[in-house]
Amino acid sequence: MCPNLIMQLRGILSKMPLKVYNLARYAAIERDRMEAAMTFVKVAKSGTLSLNEKTREIRNAGRPVYRFGFGESPFPPPQRVQNALRGAAHRKEYTAVAGLPELRQKVAAFHHEVDGYPVTAEQVLIAPGTKPLLHNIMRAFHRAEVYLPGPSWVSYAPQARLASHEVFIIPTSFESRWRVKPDQLERALKGEGRADREKLLVLNYPGNPDGLTYCRAELEALTVILRKHGVWVISDEIYALLDHRGRHVSLARLYPERTLVTTGLSKWCGAGGWRLGALILPPDAPGELRDALVGLGSETYSCAPVPIQAAALSAYELNGETYSFLAAQRRILRAIGSVVHGALIECGIRAHAPQGGFYLLLDFSRFAKDLAERGIESDGQLCERLLAETGVALLPGGAFGMPGKALAARMAYVDFDGEAALLDADRIEATAATHAANMLDGIRALGRWLNQPENSR
Ligand SMILES: Cc1ncc(COP(=O)(O)O)c(C=O)c1O
Repeated sequence: MCPNLIMQLRGILSKMPLKVYNLARYAAIERDRMEAAMTFVKVAKSGTLSLNEKTREIRNAGRPVYRFGFGESPFPPPQRVQNALRGAAHRKEYTAVAGLPELRQKVAAFHHEVDGYPVTAEQVLIAPGTKPLLHNIMRAFHRAEVYLPGPSWVSYAPQARLASHEVFIIPTSFESRWRVKPDQLERALKGEGRADREKLLVLNYPGNPDGLTYCRAELEALTVILRKHGVWVISDEIYALLDHRGRHVSLARLYPERTLVTTGLSKWCGAGGWRLGALILPPDAPGELRDALVGLGSETYSCAPVPIQAAALSAYELNGETYSFLAAQRRILRAIGSVVHGALIECGIRAHAPQGGFYLLLDFSRFAKDLAERGIESDGQLCERLLAETGVALLPGGAFGMPGKALAARMAYVDFDGEAALLDADRIEATAATHAANMLDGIRALGRWLNQPENSR
């Protein structure tokens, strides 16, 4: 605290009546004591991971759990890719921080082909997952204002704050399909503007937690504003290859000069735990940005594990098998997403039909009055009570930067046997309800709890 302020505070304190003075002094001493005791930075565990642990505890206690909380791909990595990993188990050397040159080349060729814009190996950085990449991108900016749509993925805001950036949430609504509109973006950028700060927007589509995407026209309209204000964008396209209709448009096609695309094996290749992420930098990215990212990588993770990089060489092989694997996953997620969405609508829960990835954002606001009568006034209370009373595990909207009173929660619809579904991909529209049986049970339990609380146990 600055000395002037301390002097002023002392002056104020000395003029207070004795009782108030003592109280204020006590509060000040207590605060100093707490601050002095804070050796460590406060970072809560990521909401998704904590929920997963709670869910496991309930399941271990033998009670039924409907696992809608954790967004892990249900599909196994292709056998060919698993074999490549086995074959590379002996590799124990470090690679360059940026990754194996041949992998960077493969990733560049892959995205050039599937996303339809030129990418060179020099633009690609490989890392152990996109999470450290996203973290390091935030750290690479010295001073930035970070703009996040509300809702957006759980880790962006904590990572931005860890990098000491100010975070601004651009709230969206059910009615606008949780999309950021150009006029809203413009207002936010103008409102907060500080000349000495870079502006960094994070977009994620198909989205976690909303399962929705931006079409080309929507992206073009946003691009006009982004270009006008010179905004940097992290375009988190980790679910792009799981766009249910295969129609993803990368922002890098429309706004190549300042778009940093993040992607990786976690979602489309069913390999979250393998930890392989990739960043595609803008073609003319400043050398300092690239150097900062490589420097940060060298001081944190060194390189992505080499056996995983070797397996990724096989995953990023663009052949018929890869195309069929992607097509099958999309078809399955579309069919199961549609069945799950239909069941929610039948229970009277508002949600938009999913377009990509494996999430739905549920809006419980129409139940607000009934829930309040049951002592539930926030999304956190809603999710806690639901888990305790029905075993249905959802993640509250608050984890994604939404106000608790909005009564929103994310449902991940991945609690099915992905391997069995892949074998059934050709007729999945007819069998989706069977594959999703456990999730449909969970939704019925949720519906009873909402609509007939007296019969819900
Ligand atoms: C939107 C989004 N971005 C990034 C990540 C992190 O992915 P990775 O496993 O590559 O670190 C996730 C994982 O759930 C995600 O949902």
